[in-house]
Amino acid sequence: MTADENPLLEGLTTRRAPEPCALAIYGASGDLTQRKLMPALYSLALRRLLPERFAVVGVGRSASTDDEFRARIREGIEQHARDPFQTDAWERLAAGMRYVSADPGTDGGTDELWRALGEVDAERGLGGNRIHYFAVPPTAIGSLIEDIGQHRHEQPGWTRLVIEKPFGRDLASAEQLNAEIAHHFVESEIYRIDHYLGKETVQNLLALRFANGIFEPIWNRQFVDHVQITVGESMGIEGRAGFYEESGAIRDIFQNHLLQLLALTAMEPPSDFSADAVRNEKVKVLRSLHTPGPKNIVRGQYGRGFVEGIEVAGYREEHGVARDSTTETFVAAKLYVDNWRWADTPFYVRAGKRLGKRETTIAIQFKRAPHPPFEISSVEPLKPNVLLIHVQPDEGVSLAFAAKVPGQGMALRTVHMDFLYGGAFRTGLPEAYERLILDCMLGEATLFTRADEVAEQWKLVDAIVAPWQRDQPGFPNYPAGTWGPAVADELLHRDGRSWRRH
Ligand code: BG6
Repeated sequence: MTADENPLLEGLTTRRAPEPCALAIYGASGDLTQRKLMPALYSLALRRLLPERFAVVGVGRSASTDDEFRARIREGIEQHARDPFQTDAWERLAAGMRYVSADPGTDGGTDELWRALGEVDAERGLGGNRIHYFAVPPTAIGSLIEDIGQHRHEQPGWTRLVIEKPFGRDLASAEQLNAEIAHHFVESEIYRIDHYLGKETVQNLLALRFANGIFEPIWNRQFVDHVQITVGESMGIEGRAGFYEESGAIRDIFQNHLLQLLALTAMEPPSDFSADAVRNEKVKVLRSLHTPGPKNIVRGQYGRGFVEGIEVAGYREEHGVARDSTTETFVAAKLYVDNWRWADTPFYVRAGKRLGKRETTIAIQFKRAPHPPFEISSVEPLKPNVLLIHVQPDEGVSLAFAAKVPGQGMALRTVHMDFLYGGAFRTGLPEAYERLILDCMLGEATLFTRADEVAEQWKLVDAIVAPWQRDQPGFPNYPAGTWGPAVADELLHRDGRSWRRH
């Protein structure tokens, strides 16, 4: 039985149905729309989780007809959706799809957009409810927000803004963007998206910590030796040189996905799962982060190498990248959360492109047993207990502990107790964007980033990158297909530790 025949398998039907609305997507011809947003909408349509009355208005600079737009989106769905293509679900979605070209900087440049939104509203009975989704770089947002702000009261219903990461490129630009938005919108209308928060396994971290009695008592400096968070990608920059040259690993992954994983791992239990309670706790962690000195930050850039047996170009050889680019494609850091729970417990974090494989994990490494009361004739050096959260792929949780090898004597070996999503639940995992788009339609902001959170993330990044302007890094410093530069290993070796093996 498939999920669309039995949506109960998805566990989502206990939620209320979203109100009718229109979704305007800016950056409709872009990669994100084609690969992620529309395939997510299609999967929601397939499971009948979208509002009964719904429309999508794709907005871009280039001219295109509705039919061309639909054809492009259909291709994206066929290639990237997690569900097989089904004509009836596609037709339901496509019937409400329009495309308009708009040029927000010019006089009358968005007239066609407002006309189209008015038309779909009247034709489909959407009650004037609108989500404006910005799948465009932060610099392209300001003039659009102003325009939307001026038109928002022309119709009844609610207006919400979804803004992709990175939100600004430093603290000053993020604050400026927040100020521009605040002219017309209040915080509860703003959904700053970090799609990692929509991942099932990331939400499961909260379930693991706060719905079980056994972890919380040991989730602290007394029992935890250190934490390792890895966001590894085998992919390169996938033709996104323009974006990546500006952002690098620190703005693309560290500032948002990595710090969110850290905040969820380190936060105190919230009083409830409301948007403010959860976000208050995350902000406290971000505020407690100690700014690492230059010795505790490592950056890298990949050179030519082999990924999964295939030879790939170095970063500087990628199309659109400067031959002497100093953009980092890898970053690692030793961070400390200066509070009672975590004082002196290192959080080693790393993120990079063109690493050995795609793997996002959070490893909680516990302190060793103080005194094993027997002679250990171990076949291999005994490892400390590790609780490993596999965010992706092979989603699940695994606990490493020592067990006696059967036979005479007391030989011990590390074994693993595994929970695998695929085995425990008979269902595929929804894509992060499905969850987040639906949450926005329902007005639930818990899994979105609040202004003060973004500000704290930028403060840390600004402090880290400030000295980078002065030094010339010796790039490239790791071959594609490896786990980053040797200095990243030294970061842990200095402390008598090492990164988890893959
Ligand atoms: C995006 C980054 O936010 O996340 C990309 O801009 C990165 O560079 C992507 O590849 C990774 O997402 P996921 O869900 O594949 O881990």
